[in-house]
Amino acid sequence: MTVLYFSVVSRIFGESNEKEIKKLVPDARILKKSVGYLLFESGDRDVVMRLDKENPIFIYSTFRMQSHGTISEAAYLDSIFENMAGLGFNKEIGARIECVDINSKTFYSAKDIEVNLGSRLEGMGYAVDIVSPKQFIYCVLFDMECYCGYADYEGLKKGFIDPDRHYKAIRESKISRAELKIAEAFDEFELGELKGNALDIGASPGGWTRFLHGIGFKVVAVDPGNFDYEKFKKLGILVNEVNDAPKVLKFEDQITHIKCGYDKLYYCGIEEEADLIVIDINCAPGEAADALLKLSKFLKKGGKAIMTIKCMTRNADRYIELASGTLEGRFRIRGLKALPSNRREITLFAESIG
Ligand SMILES: C[S@@+](CC[C@H](N)C(=O)[O-])C[C@H]1O[C@@H](n2cnc3c(N)ncnc32)[C@H](O)[C@@H]1O
Repeated sequence: MTVLYFSVVSRIFGESNEKEIKKLVPDARILKKSVGYLLFESGDRDVVMRLDKENPIFIYSTFRMQSHGTISEAAYLDSIFENMAGLGFNKEIGARIECVDINSKTFYSAKDIEVNLGSRLEGMGYAVDIVSPKQFIYCVLFDMECYCGYADYEGLKKGFIDPDRHYKAIRESKISRAELKIAEAFDEFELGELKGNALDIGASPGGWTRFLHGIGFKVVAVDPGNFDYEKFKKLGILVNEVNDAPKVLKFEDQITHIKCGYDKLYYCGIEEEADLIVIDINCAPGEAADALLKLSKFLKKGGKAIMTIKCMTRNADRYIELASGTLEGRFRIRGLKALPSNRREITLFAESIG
């Protein structure tokens, strides 16, 4: 008996997605693919657990599907509901329903469908709970086929199936699109507890800086380009702009934006070391990794680093190797992920060991 799985995968590195699935799930047979999504079957019943443990680079999340059926155009919502209601989840345990709609062109939004399914379940006496649910019911509409499944939140690494909607609040208030990448990285690498001083390299127009400042970091941002001061002003966040590298870097409550290239920092001293260095410069991965290596003199032992590895071609493995190789000896690589908001890049998470 084969089992159906749905994965949220990199939107850019299509070949790498498939290669990685085949490597980690050798008997996987890919049934459907669309930009950022894959549906496959395997004889292995523990694929979700195994992929969670293996921490793949290109596969962002995977869900087991327990039912599927064709969606009827004439009875659109009814056919989705029938498919979902047949899952056999526990009626008494509070459930949240999430729907992702791939390639289906109807006038119902995923949200409309969720509301419809939820109220029908409620009408049948099921516990529907969108505040503190214990069960997650997911529903994927893929080329007019409906795939559904459910799981306890407790055992899930990611309790959402559609990253676009999960990070919607950030997208709507963002300084730059890049802000989503750092929010996703903090969740992915479980950095919620991390606090202190952060050095943000390649910071303009200021998305990562705003995010880090927003969660309590004291931030020094470095970029020769301009910050979006208008947006910062609207958000009521003050930024102190400095035109050249100071002799000594200082982390303060107010954000400091040093308007220069990162190499100018090589000659600076530091008052108090950084807990985190983040690098999002648009340059070759070897150059970014080399910059991180040199700037790591400002980082505490055990301090963390997040860096985007910009891939010049779709052969991401080559660039990952290049960046990781450069950091070897000074950093331990703790994670690599093609996050949903990454374009042609991979996010690297590392810890200083020197
Ligand atoms: C992708 S953008 C960064 C976006 C930013 N992380 C955000 O959240 O808004 C890349 C930035 O790298 C900066 N950059 C390129 N070369 C640099 C260098 N040598 N030193 C510092 N910043 C650099 C560019 O000016 C550009 O603003």
